[in-house]
Amino acid sequence: MDDVKIVLPESEMPSKWYNALPDLPTPLAPPLDPQTKKPVDPDQLAVIFPRAVIEQELSPERWIPIPQPVLDVYRLYRPTPLVRASRLEKALGVKCKIYYKNESVSPAGSHKPNTAIPQAYYNKQEGVKRIATETGAGQWGTALSFACSMFGMACTVYMVKVSYNQKPYRKMLINAYGGEIFASPSEMTRTGRAMLEKDPDCAGSLGLAISEAVEDAATHDDTKYSLGSVLNHVLLHQTICGLETEKQLAMAGDKPDYLVGCVGGGSNFAGLILPFLPRKLAGENIRMVAVEPKACPTLTRGQFRYDYGDVARLTPLLKMHTLGHSFMPAPIHAGGLRYHGDAPILCNLVDEGLIDAEAYYQTDCFDAAKLFLQTEGFLPAPETSHAIKGAIETAKKAKPGETVVFLYSGHGMLDLASYDAYMSGKLTNFDYPEENIVEALKDCPVIG
Ligand SMILES: Cc1ncc(COP(=O)(O)O)c(C=O)c1O
Repeated sequence: MDDVKIVLPESEMPSKWYNALPDLPTPLAPPLDPQTKKPVDPDQLAVIFPRAVIEQELSPERWIPIPQPVLDVYRLYRPTPLVRASRLEKALGVKCKIYYKNESVSPAGSHKPNTAIPQAYYNKQEGVKRIATETGAGQWGTALSFACSMFGMACTVYMVKVSYNQKPYRKMLINAYGGEIFASPSEMTRTGRAMLEKDPDCAGSLGLAISEAVEDAATHDDTKYSLGSVLNHVLLHQTICGLETEKQLAMAGDKPDYLVGCVGGGSNFAGLILPFLPRKLAGENIRMVAVEPKACPTLTRGQFRYDYGDVARLTPLLKMHTLGHSFMPAPIHAGGLRYHGDAPILCNLVDEGLIDAEAYYQTDCFDAAKLFLQTEGFLPAPETSHAIKGAIETAKKAKPGETVVFLYSGHGMLDLASYDAYMSGKLTNFDYPEENIVEALKDCPVIG
């Protein structure tokens, strides 16, 4: 009988991350200084990021060694299992194989510690005492406060207000790890106070929470900023997921025909697919499917152009698919998928036609999550439900014997209020209006 879980021994855990930058068919457009609109000088980034992270952001090296202290913390939960979802296959009546890479087994309950751990480590190495960050649904804030506790550092989290109110247990968990947390917009920063003055009921957005965390880091000498998605170094750290998956599929005697994941800023999806990019470019028929909410259709309907990463225009300009940095998302429950932009590496590959993007309504994703829960037994995070929906639709179209692999990015044990709203029929679907996109893009800089 085939194994249900393909378990990689600890001794087989990858000791290097894969950097896709040298393999991109078209070089990545450089980040630009928000004032001069010229390529950013790495020294400017040093105000908010440690040197080691800036080096990784721009590195031309294909393989980057994972430091031993990072591997030691990874081993608390890595390698993560690759699981054959045969009960789901049976319920769907499909003849293809479905696997999921289960990143929900980490201490924080998602893939986010894969980058939180190295980021905390590099900051600690460079004498930083505190890290400030934003969080959407709370998974990233939890991951960073966990990682900071591993290396004896302080952590400050600005959590998008709508999620802060929807998910009170995330706040408690962040506090339990020793982190402090504020609902964003907050009274702690100039940006937060200005927004509250304009709109006291503002529900917040990731772009706004990023502005608050960047301002915090830029105005305190002992503090740096950390981002949980989008940037090249974050995607780099997440490649451990795809590298393990590649080994596990080989152990099972399989190869991927489809790789599927949900996209908020793009880090878990990129972590799964990037290690397979060289094989795809060499001609292997691997289809890569990115799944996003219809309420935040960045890849499917956003424009590919330079935009700011945050509301206050503090971050460098990145060339990415964007809905405009002033985007205020509808309060869907997948808080981690409500970002106006996406990882430049991912957007570059979407633009090349190497990745397909799909968007779904939240109730359809919760339906998929329920089927998964009632067949495979685990409760997915609302973000992850988008990957499940995408994998199910892909499996229905796949040929008999083909292999669909999706990334199971997190558990939903702290998202039960969202399931309650779903089961009591209180969830609404949102289509993002075209006129809002047109309006928000008017605020984006025009770069020649
Ligand atoms: C469980 C989970 N999945 C997916 C995401 C989306 O982020 P990314 O696209 O960077 O993987 C998040 C973000 O918060 C998350 O918490």
